[in-house]
Amino acid sequence: MSLPGSGSGLAGGPGSPKVYVKVPASTANLGPGFDALGMALDLYAWIEMGIASTTEIRLYGDQMNGVPTDKSNLVYKVAQQVFDKAGIAHPELDIAMYSDIPLTRGLGSSASAIVGALVAANALIGNKLSPHELFQMASALEKHPDNVGASLFGGLTIAFWDGERAEYLRIVPEDRLDVLVAIPRFQLSTEKARHVLPEQVPMKDAVFNIGHASLLVAAFCSGRYDMIRHAMKDALHQPYRAPLIPGMSDILERAEEHGALGVALSGAGPTLLALVDGKEGRGAELERFLLDTLRDRGIEADTMWLKPCAEGAAVLSHFDPNVPLIDNVKGNVRT
Ligand code: HSE
Repeated sequence: MSLPGSGSGLAGGPGSPKVYVKVPASTANLGPGFDALGMALDLYAWIEMGIASTTEIRLYGDQMNGVPTDKSNLVYKVAQQVFDKAGIAHPELDIAMYSDIPLTRGLGSSASAIVGALVAANALIGNKLSPHELFQMASALEKHPDNVGASLFGGLTIAFWDGERAEYLRIVPEDRLDVLVAIPRFQLSTEKARHVLPEQVPMKDAVFNIGHASLLVAAFCSGRYDMIRHAMKDALHQPYRAPLIPGMSDILERAEEHGALGVALSGAGPTLLALVDGKEGRGAELERFLLDTLRDRGIEADTMWLKPCAEGAAVLSHFDPNVPLIDNVKGNVRT
């Protein structure tokens, strides 16, 4: 894509190019992989971005309720960081966003906004920054690489961020893997869910997680999905977060009896996520178990069947710049 401006600035106004980015949701931690394992899911947000003479932000869809439309908007702020890093004067922006990803439920909504903003802003300036640089920026913004790695690169990402540098490798789960999420009808901020975690953990818990996380990655790499039930256990974050989500402990203990390959808190919660072998055909039983267990503890929830998404954030070339974003995404959205 050619640069829409030259030198240190960008041209704006009618006729300036717009870019469109589709970015997947993600689950983080995957049980024992606290702050390390993420998986992209086929639930999406779309961002439209163009240079403008005055900043305007339009948000579509129920999941955008309460998201600011001024310059405190996350997408706007992250885009400015891209221009800053690329040495380009901060332009006014025309932004539109539609998202199917529930806000603050543990499915990576903020990571998808960060990744979408990075990729869109970078596309607007002719991809001056590399994917590696975008990943560094995304990890530093989120302070952990699991959601942003999965949203940026797709598939199952194994990553670290040491406070200065992030690195990752990516594997693509087999087609037979289905993902069932039970999304409680309450929000839980990552900040609150991180606040309950201890500063230090016993050595035996660290050893427990190293073994389980390593086995889980090996199970995915080798197609030994029978091992997921042994590997998808955690001692670093789930025990501390369980009191925040009534019913979670029962689900972690018993979901495998109802057909799950493995079950975990999705990210910082409150969503619970079960991995399922699509060939086993016990999906309805598992769905009922998750909903009934939560309801018995007074928690209403919604379930959604998802698939791992092999592709990360992508710039789309087929959207029509002459119609609103909502018309462009029609036919692709869930709600
Ligand atoms: N790894 C993060 C956590 C994901 O569990 O806190 C939440 O954004």
